[in-house]
Amino acid sequence: MSTDLLYLADSYQKRATAKVLEIGELQNQTFIILDQTIFYAQGGGQPADHGTITGPQGQLEVSHVSYNGGQIQHKGKLSGELHVGDTVELAIDWPLRYTHMHLHTAGHVLDQAVKNVIPGVIGLDGNHGINGKNYVEFDQEITADQLPAIQQELDAVQTAALPISTEMVTKDELDERRVRLPFDLPTNKPLRIVQIGEYEPMPDGGTQLKTTAECWPITATQIVVKDGHFRVLYQVTDPAATAESGTATSETKTKPRSATQTADLPDEFTAAVEAIRLTLKTPQVAATTNYFGKKGLFSDVAKQLKELPPESRRSAGQLLNQLKQEIEQTVASYGSNQQTAKVDVTLPGIKPKVGHMHPVSQAIAEITQIFERVGFTRVRYPEADWDWYAFESLNMPKNHPARDEWETFFVAAEPSSTKGKLVLTPHTSSGQVREMERLNSQPPIRMINIARCYRRQQDATHTQMFHQFEGLVVDKGITIQHLKGTLDYFAQEFYGPGTKSRIRPFHFQFTEPSFEVDFSCHICGGTGEVRRDGETAKCRFCKSGWHEVGGAGMVHPNVLKAGGIDPEEYTGFAFGWGVERTYTLKEGLNIDDIRLLYSGELRFLEQF
Ligand code: DAH
Repeated sequence: MSTDLLYLADSYQKRATAKVLEIGELQNQTFIILDQTIFYAQGGGQPADHGTITGPQGQLEVSHVSYNGGQIQHKGKLSGELHVGDTVELAIDWPLRYTHMHLHTAGHVLDQAVKNVIPGVIGLDGNHGINGKNYVEFDQEITADQLPAIQQELDAVQTAALPISTEMVTKDELDERRVRLPFDLPTNKPLRIVQIGEYEPMPDGGTQLKTTAECWPITATQIVVKDGHFRVLYQVTDPAATAESGTATSETKTKPRSATQTADLPDEFTAAVEAIRLTLKTPQVAATTNYFGKKGLFSDVAKQLKELPPESRRSAGQLLNQLKQEIEQTVASYGSNQQTAKVDVTLPGIKPKVGHMHPVSQAIAEITQIFERVGFTRVRYPEADWDWYAFESLNMPKNHPARDEWETFFVAAEPSSTKGKLVLTPHTSSGQVREMERLNSQPPIRMINIARCYRRQQDATHTQMFHQFEGLVVDKGITIQHLKGTLDYFAQEFYGPGTKSRIRPFHFQFTEPSFEVDFSCHICGGTGEVRRDGETAKCRFCKSGWHEVGGAGMVHPNVLKAGGIDPEEYTGFAFGWGVERTYTLKEGLNIDDIRLLYSGELRFLEQF
């Protein structure tokens, strides 16, 4: 069982009760695991909390807290006894935690300030008080002369009193929102993001202040180059702390040392150090000098360390550390090519957004596959076709009133002397006679024609362009049973097992008999009723148990004749439905406005 991290939701909680889940010994210390905790486990650059855990018969003086595979280990000295199952009182050392919080939030504010000064810079790492070090590390060159600008941004962010908000998220949500992940994110921890004002959110698991106004003043003190990365060192100052105690300030260990510390060192050693310092004064010299290579100047003096009397080694070491930083900093500020920033190829990348097919294209692909599995051939015919294919060959002679149902777009083109005007195909039935012609009037025919169709209509449930799929089967001895079997097959494949089809008498010119086709509603199982709030209620999706999807029928003899097929020898069935409707029914979508599908509205389309 993992420990519930109370501090993620409330960084200001100072006391809590918890249950002891496990007690153990580790490196002469006692550790205990609780069901929940307010103690921050060291990580993300923020130091662990201290405090006490008190049970009925004993107390653990907590001196370290660490994260261990989802469990928080509270380590320290135990006086008396604690037992598994004990209810214990937790109390954190609040002044210490509050200082940690200031340091940690300051790190985030600094990160933002640097990003404001150097757009595109990436924060790689940070340390907010562990071993007394406070810095944020970046991938790009930052020079000392940028410190004033960074300071200005720091002050601006602080005076703007921006809210600091946190939110729990999943890794996938982070990817979705394209939150940049600058650190190796622990995948075994709950993820949280922190956001300062309206700036880009950052992954963060530490404790945070509530606004930048609450932050103690933050000072960016120094730039240090480390392994080709650039660290901005900082400190925070508690205004309430007295000048002499200075305890709440977070002086870094990298503060310049005073000259007196070098007094006990041999002259040769200090002279060598000074000689190196001299080279730093001239940009060209500093940029071309070998300091850290095998025969580098710094490497040379560093070797002398071993020969020094033991009592001098400590201050010599400090002096060398100081020198090393001066060299790194100077070389960085001169922009030497010896110290160019490296790219850390092990950092997690930014997942590129992968698109997907439009829902209608997905439906077309699926419909195609379902019919191809039982031997249908997917075909495509012209979107602008002759009147003959769209109407006349389908048993709708010129001026036949049935044509009115297809509110047709006519193309302003020279009519064909034999096939009439050019139209934008108002239905996929226009592929029927074309398919018969393609096969030289030689059945068997098993066609599935899926295509764009056009009609002069536009409202919430109709678009001028839409899609239909048309089935046509012609062979010897084809009956309504074959039609019904095919409809049932499609219903089950597309909508799921148990879905039934139903045919009702209707009229189309190109089929005899003709039907309208319904599918049983897969939300209510075709009953028209659902259980809602413990009661039987009408299914809101279908209202009747069935959805009407399209038309079908036995191919009219005149259509077979138009395709050169003898209706005495062959029979056939056909069906045709709208792809959009068929698809939205499947998804259980009550789309108020079908035009959304073609609006290019990504917030809608990304859901499918
Ligand atoms: N073409 C008809 C329409 O657009 C649908 C249709 C009905 C197609 C019956 C057929 C059929 O193949 O047999 O409304």
